[in-house]
Amino acid sequence: MFKKTSKKVLLSGVKPTGRVHIGNYFGAMKQFLDLQNEFESYIFIADYHALTTVQDQKKLSEDIINVALDYLAIGLDPKKVVLFKQSDVPQVTELAWIFNCLTTMPYLMRAHAFKDAEAKNNEINVGVFDYPILMAADILMQDADVVPVGQDQKQHVEYARDTVMKFNRVFNAPVFKMPEPLILKEVETVPGTDGRKMSKSYGNVIPLFATDEEIVKAVMSIPTDSKGVAEPKNPDESHLYAIHKLFLNEEQRLALRSKYLKGGMGYKEAKDLLIADLKAFIGPLRARREALAKNVRYVKKVLKKGGKIANKRAEKKMQEVREKVGLNIN
Ligand code: TRP
Repeated sequence: MFKKTSKKVLLSGVKPTGRVHIGNYFGAMKQFLDLQNEFESYIFIADYHALTTVQDQKKLSEDIINVALDYLAIGLDPKKVVLFKQSDVPQVTELAWIFNCLTTMPYLMRAHAFKDAEAKNNEINVGVFDYPILMAADILMQDADVVPVGQDQKQHVEYARDTVMKFNRVFNAPVFKMPEPLILKEVETVPGTDGRKMSKSYGNVIPLFATDEEIVKAVMSIPTDSKGVAEPKNPDESHLYAIHKLFLNEEQRLALRSKYLKGGMGYKEAKDLLIADLKAFIGPLRARREALAKNVRYVKKVLKKGGKIANKRAEKKMQEVREKVGLNIN
């Protein structure tokens, strides 16, 4: 286990974002599960990055455990994936410093995330400005071949790629490997309970670990038109169907479509069907998360073990880096 394999190295970081919803699940989380067999995978909780926005001891430390619980509950397998906490590899901050000294301010000022942050608030901290460089350090430290990220993070991976070229050229040695972004395809944009993209900021989410009451409440809040029970309904215009189809296989989808199209199914019945399917999907995940939450010691053990593995690889890499840049006088 975790021996050198011929598999390519995959690395990605996840920032604690609070309670995850089914949009997060289908948009990103699930894809890590699908990739964990194919790659030598390193997934970490980006707690240093979180510090750029969270400055609250209790919140951050709780968020760290919560992310770990979320990923373990959905089935990320610590036997296949090195799951760790970024701050267990403090060498990334050292490497980020070295990269900082090779990086120009105008270049970082072109980052979309920085420009957005600046547009909203002119008192942004240096951490926000330097975010892409710390991320480059995360990626390059572990010799990642592929970096699965959402479209919004693609530019950051490009910063990492530019940093590879710059470092290797300045110090005239092939120290870092060129990573490729693997853009997580929005398999389907997951619609929220109001039909817009599911997003915490719209308040239209169905939590991934929702209680039965929350499931009922969310589904009941989905607006429908005023068609009567007997009338045929167009599934492609229904917010209800748009969410429901995520949980169905092809055959079940077709069956549900025809119920809509035929008429005879009222929205009350359609909602009850969705509630039943959501309960069946979410129930076991929630149970697994609850069981894990009762065993935080185990979760911490998983993170610690992953941290040791990632740290060891990082230290080896840093020895090479320190040597190449001239910090090593032995
Ligand atoms: N910036 C990423 C996000 O907001 C998190 C992240 C930090 C990351 N370091 C990374 C992702 C390295 C991939 C690789 O989601």
